[in-house]
Amino acid sequence: MSKTKKKHAARPRMADLADKYALYRLAVQDPEHEVEQFVRFYKDQYGRLPTRLREDFCAAAAVCCQWTKLGREHSAVGVDLDPEPLGYCRRTYLPKLSATQQLRVALLQQDVRTCGVRAEIIAAQNYSFFLFKTRAALLGYFRQVHECLADEGILILDMMGGGAMHDEDISESRQVARLTPEDKLQPPFRYVWQEESFNPITHDVRFHIHFRFPDGSALDNAFTYDWRLWTMPEVRELLDEAGFSASHVYWETEDKDGEPSGKYRRTMRGKPDQAWLSYLIGVK
Ligand SMILES: C[S@@+](CC[C@H](N)C(=O)[O-])C[C@H]1O[C@@H](n2cnc3c(N)ncnc32)[C@H](O)[C@@H]1O
Repeated sequence: MSKTKKKHAARPRMADLADKYALYRLAVQDPEHEVEQFVRFYKDQYGRLPTRLREDFCAAAAVCCQWTKLGREHSAVGVDLDPEPLGYCRRTYLPKLSATQQLRVALLQQDVRTCGVRAEIIAAQNYSFFLFKTRAALLGYFRQVHECLADEGILILDMMGGGAMHDEDISESRQVARLTPEDKLQPPFRYVWQEESFNPITHDVRFHIHFRFPDGSALDNAFTYDWRLWTMPEVRELLDEAGFSASHVYWETEDKDGEPSGKYRRTMRGKPDQAWLSYLIGVK
């Protein structure tokens, strides 16, 4: 008999089994809500329903997939440079759509600045345009989008800001318990949003997303963002310069306890919260 003990394979930790795109979607995305908002913003502007969406910086294109569920006329194009999340969409989200819905989603691995796909709505969500750090780069992107929008078209951006973000080495976290049937295999987890650094001279800001699990394991730096924390007036001026005829702000309202409600109202007067989120719409 062998004297060496047979080694048992170490039990996998929760982090080893986790799917970072599924966790990201559970923690920070709500495609149903996004699509509802997009339709509302467009209707507010043109009084009719849009059918053609381009989702820039789409990553795993969850919003495109949701868009096609609105009806047979609805099609979406997702654009992202990175083949990994696009591949994830093809393997994970597209097969959950019907055959005809799948035909109405196109995924392009491309730089959004060279993408000529036309649409009624071009959406860039989760602050993705913050990765353009100079006026010239952001203006170039906005000009390209303006060119691609239908005559009745809007660009939908989201923005965040507030004094709390002018800081570094801070983080906030919450337990995520939003399990949908298709995501039930994901372990319970804690979502951590960390601001590693902020430079008040350049507004360069570095964020990380970490996922932490009950067994002590973690997916640290699952996503990292090197951005410029643009301000609302800077971005509105660049939209204007790029040829947009108007820009509108949808600011988050408060519930009866004074907490953020998750609902947005068009206004030009915002409350100076320490950390605010809003939508900014550029009108062709
Ligand atoms: C913050 S993530 C996107 C998140 C997604 N839009 C959402 O709502 O959760 C930014 C994405 O932009 C992509 N990206 C970065 N630069 C790009 C570019 N110039 N053109 C297209 N995609 C780009 C990255 O590959 C990444 O998937």
